[in-house]
Amino acid sequence: MRKNVALIGFMGSGKTSVGRALSKKLGLRFIETDEIVEKDAGKPIARIFSEDGERAFRRLEAEAVSRSSEAKGAIISCGGGVVTNPDNVAALKRNCIIVLLRASPEETLRRVGNGKSRPLLRAKDRLARIKALAKSRKNYYESAADILVDTDGINVGKVASLIAENLGNYDGNLD
Ligand code: S3P
Repeated sequence: MRKNVALIGFMGSGKTSVGRALSKKLGLRFIETDEIVEKDAGKPIARIFSEDGERAFRRLEAEAVSRSSEAKGAIISCGGGVVTNPDNVAALKRNCIIVLLRASPEETLRRVGNGKSRPLLRAKDRLARIKALAKSRKNYYESAADILVDTDGINVGKVASLIAENLGNYDGNLD
């Protein structure tokens, strides 16, 4: 029986804010893989990338996914690149109902702004970067997902409600 809900999707798709709202709504614990990685490394993600490289980040991330997916009754917000590792997807599929949050590239850009916390979006043309990376990951996201929610123009509370509704109708249910 799958006991957790994992939120997947591109950077800026709303996994953190929706995950927090959904955890309140359903009375489940909120876990964020990025937060575990930062805690384990003792530094922010941008510094892990610049000092240790993306491969080191992905190793820490896989460890965080494996531990999180063993939870019993949690909403797990997964970093945007989690789905590119098949081991991560397998671990999530075993114990979680997987919800994909989608947003258009333009909406994604509005949400992520110009912040420096996301090393993979450091580019002169951020919209072009978002489009290219999102395209290369589209199949990973869609093949991992049990439930899909389009979030453009919908506020956080409404997205959380839509997910809760979908979970209620979904037969691979949480206890
Ligand atoms: C990444 C997404 C980020 C973070 C890291 C890499 C990615 O998480 O894990 O910067 O590969 O898409 P968010 O999706 O929470 O921004």
